[in-house]
Amino acid sequence: MNNNQFGNKGWTPDRIGNLNEKTYLISGANAGAGFEATRILLSKGAEVVMLNRSEAKSKNAIQKLKEEFGKTAQVKFIKMDLADLSSVRNAGNEIIQSVSRIDALICNAAIAQVPKQQFTVDGFESQLGVNHYGHFLLCSILFDRIEESKGRIVVVGSEGYKMGLKTIQFDDMNWNKNYHPMNTYCHSKLAQIMFAYELQDRIRAANKNVQVYVCHPGASATSLIKTSGGLRDRIIWGLVSKTPLVQSANRGAYPEVMCATEDNLREKAYFGPTKRMQTGGPVGECKLEPHAQDMEVAAKLWTVTEQEIGQKFNV
Ligand SMILES: NC(=O)c1ccc[n+]([C@@H]2O[C@H](COP(=O)([O-])OP(=O)(O)OC[C@H]3O[C@@H](n4cnc5c(N)ncnc54)[C@H](OP(=O)(O)O)[C@@H]3O)[C@@H](O)[C@H]2O)c1
Repeated sequence: MNNNQFGNKGWTPDRIGNLNEKTYLISGANAGAGFEATRILLSKGAEVVMLNRSEAKSKNAIQKLKEEFGKTAQVKFIKMDLADLSSVRNAGNEIIQSVSRIDALICNAAIAQVPKQQFTVDGFESQLGVNHYGHFLLCSILFDRIEESKGRIVVVGSEGYKMGLKTIQFDDMNWNKNYHPMNTYCHSKLAQIMFAYELQDRIRAANKNVQVYVCHPGASATSLIKTSGGLRDRIIWGLVSKTPLVQSANRGAYPEVMCATEDNLREKAYFGPTKRMQTGGPVGECKLEPHAQDMEVAAKLWTVTEQEIGQKFNV
């Protein structure tokens, strides 16, 4: 493993051709890797629809992007709060009404290392609720439009899937008994990754034409911990992110942009930086631990998720 199919430098945006006429949806695109992915896609002529929770931050991000790429840059935002399923439903409906083509939906938004157990509007543990349940619902609403567009779904995971429980805690999805900022975050990122592999299987079984790719950004200097982490983690991450151990948010965006644009990627795979224990370096295919592809757990997670959010995901 780690033989990079894109050569020594790994995948870079130089490989992307002209993206005129292509439309990409990115959740959490006003900051961090999502914002940088937006910049890369706009620089290639694509249209980007940001799905963000904050109107003020979105306007600010769009202003910055128009300063960089000109007033005609095709970027807009639709308000969506993944911590509120009614907001995801509203955003989904607005997308169906206003976005006729989806070349890729990049499930990028997340919260991480929330210090104390919190709940989404619908009563889910916040990290699982935002990172997994919210995106699951969004993907289910947009699936047919993505299929009509022969598009893709990109799930942004985390190396955290290898930490914590390494499985899904079905008897306590809300972590009432053992809440832990990091373990609970890792659980939510594992859930996202398992959802993606299960979705791949269901798509193939139904003979549908949607690709699903899983990636991670390595360790990247973004606002992730600053936004949702506790004070101790914010201080530690603030210091570490100034060292060469942590790459730029722009580099952190490469894997998700690659998964949204590159042809002939392998599906049952996991992409991201391949060096320094997969935290940085050339982007390519990474080693994937087998527990992420425990399809019995993945199938059960799918059923539990449908029950929890009260919506079937019909592939
Ligand atoms: N940075 C790393 O080292 C690292 C490592 C492993 C994995 N990741 C993954 O990389 C992805 C991108 O994160 P990032 O590092 O770029 O973090 P970031 O800078 O904090 O960006 C996260 C984005 O998600 C949005 N978001 C958070 N909660 C939301 C909600 N309820 N509804 C809608 N949007 C919401 C944020 O909006 P606001 O601006 O309004 O908060 C922000 O736009 C995440 O999936 C994360 O798990 C990052």
